[in-house]
This record gives sequence, C-alpha cells and structure tokens, in this order.
Amino acid sequence: SSVSIPPPACILRPLEVPLRYLFGPGPSNVPPRVLAAGSKPIIGHLHAEMYEIMNDIKKGIHYAFQTENNMTIAMSGSGHAAMECAVFNTVEPGENVLVAINGIWGERVAEIADRMGANVHRMVKTPGGYFTNTEIEQAIVKHKPVLFFLTHGESSAGLCHPIDGIGDICQKHNCLFLVDTVASLGAAPIFMDSQNIDILYTGSQKALNAPPGTAPISFNDRACHKMFNRKTKPVSYLFDMTHLANYWGCDGKPARVYHHTGPVSGFFALRESLSILAERGLEESWKKHKELAAYLYRGLEDLGLKLFIPDKDLRLPSVTTIAIPEGYDWRELLAFMMKNHNMEMTGGLGPSTGMVMRIGLMGYNCEKRNADMALHALEDALKNCKKSKA
Ligand code: GLV
Repeated sequence: SSVSIPPPACILRPLEVPLRYLFGPGPSNVPPRVLAAGSKPIIGHLHAEMYEIMNDIKKGIHYAFQTENNMTIAMSGSGHAAMECAVFNTVEPGENVLVAINGIWGERVAEIADRMGANVHRMVKTPGGYFTNTEIEQAIVKHKPVLFFLTHGESSAGLCHPIDGIGDICQKHNCLFLVDTVASLGAAPIFMDSQNIDILYTGSQKALNAPPGTAPISFNDRACHKMFNRKTKPVSYLFDMTHLANYWGCDGKPARVYHHTGPVSGFFALRESLSILAERGLEESWKKHKELAAYLYRGLEDLGLKLFIPDKDLRLPSVTTIAIPEGYDWRELLAFMMKNHNMEMTGGLGPSTGMVMRIGLMGYNCEKRNADMALHALEDALKNCKKSKA
C-alpha cells in the first residue's frame, strides 16, 4: 500500500511559542540558564556522565528538602508522578489511608489511593481551611491509617499549611507522613528530616523554575521499610521504587540496569535549577518570596481587592489567592490580562473554582518589577472589564 495520508500543513509550519509572563500557579518562566542546560546535547540515560548528573540532582534535592535520605530521586514525570509513586509504593490494597483535603491536591491523592484499592478516609475543609494537630491526631487514632497525606503548599487555595508536630504524631501512631510541596518548595521553609516527614515530593515547574516534567521525591528509612517489605507488587511498573531505586543508584547494587528511559534534557534542566537554588541559598529564597508576597498583598489591597486567606501567616508566599471582586466575571478579567498584557494569572482549581483568582510569582519570577506588572495588569482589567449585572 502507499502513503495516503499527506503530511499535515500545520506540522510543516515552523514552531511558534509566544514569550509570556507566567504569573499563575505554574509552570513559571524558566531562566535562560536553565533553558540552556536543557538544550545541551543528549547523552545516553545509562552513561556514566548521566549517573553523575543524577547523583548531583540527588545532592541538590538533599539540600532543597533538608534531608540526608539515601532514597532520594527525581521522577520522570510531573508532580502527579511523584504523588502516585508515593501512594503506590507505600500502600497496599485494603490498607487505610487518611487524606487531608482543603483544596484540589488532597482530592487527587484520595482518588489515586481509591483507584489502587486502599480504604480512603477523607478529612475535609473548604478551601482556605486548615487542620489542627489535635484534629489530625484524633483522625489518625480513629482510622489507623498506614499513610497520612497533607499538602504543604495548597496552590488551589493559596494556603501554606503548618507542619510542625504532625510528623511526630504520625510516628507515634505508626503511620507514614506524606507531604506535597509542589507549590511551596523553595518559597516556604520545609525541613524533611527535622520535621519528621517520611515522604516528601515537589515539582520542577514552580519555584524551581525548571520545565515541567520532572519531580523530586524522597523517602526516609521508615518509608523504605514499609515499601520494601510489601506482600503485593505496586500497581505501577514505571513507578515501582524497587526499579527506580536501582536506576538512581540508591539500592547499593553495583550496577544500574535498564528500567525506563529518563527525560535526559529534563534532568539537565532540573540539575541547573537545583544549582541556582543552592547558590542563592534556601533562607534567602524563603525571605525573598515572603517579602515580595507582602509587597504584593499591599498592592492588591490598594486596588481594593480582598485576599482570600485572612491570616497572613497562613498564606502561601509563592501563590497568592484573591477573592473574586464583586460584580466581576473572573474569566473576563483573566482573558483581558492575557489579551492585553500577555500575562497569565488563573482562576481557582477543583473546589476553589469560582472562589479565587491566583497570582504566582515564583523563583525567577519573584521580583518586584513583576509584582508591579501584575498589579498594573489587574488594575487595567478592573477598569476595563464591565461589571456584570448583579
Ligand atoms: C497547579 O498546577 C495549580 O494550578 O495550582
């Protein structure tokens, strides 16, 4: 037979990608240094130089997470890959899992745990709500979970959840503590080892400013003990930590054997972004995000806008949520800024949809001039978007 489907005209046109201000919850703009790292020549995923780069990434994650865990890798995939990896490896079908839901990420983990056959118990608050340590301990005592999930940086609500003390509660009740820092890592303090967090993950595309598609994750000894002494195999072959531990040189075996082909360029970029964070220093990065967020809050309030999280200390410094101003259609405001300012901000996500608009100024984007630009665009949108009939 012969070729009957012609080459499509669209694919013959050169690739066009606009330069855009990515001031939403991610992906964020990628600095030239990280873009350049990602465009270096490809090497084999099993070459010695690649192993060295992966070892460097592991060390970079140690610093970013403040951990010494040997079982520290980057997933070939986005934050969701890390989320599934954590749940698939540490939980067996029929086991109890407790999930704190105060936005979309808890909902996702509950769904993932449901799908693999765990007994999922949900603690639910409306977006913006948070859980006290007493509430968490009571729920753990009641449901006896093997795993408790909490989101540190709830990007859908703009909340940074307090972490202190929860790891100790989990340990006391023989439950693993899993924390999502996709939206908070590098922007708000987290100390994996001293806060007794058993499994921690993040994404590449937020405050780390690498392209989407890789996701650091780390497991401590308690988590390793549980996941490497299971009766059943994890439901996912790609995310099986027995294989990934070998691929990342964490299993003490003399040779790494082929499991899957990792995103080589994505790992180059991730390494560069971890290098930038290490150069800047965590304290400096946390301080910068906090100060810029405070500057943004003042500007938003000057525009007559209301912050969605009333308590300043609970606000996520990387992603700020504002209540949708009365009489406006949030979709119109966002579309106006995209069209006239080439700028992305977003609406809510999952349960916060229709409740908030979100501004993310993360890592490379965490600069006063960007906050000024975002405020200017919002002011313009508020002036020009007709109030809908109430
Ligand atoms: C994450 O991707 C978000 O929109 O918060």
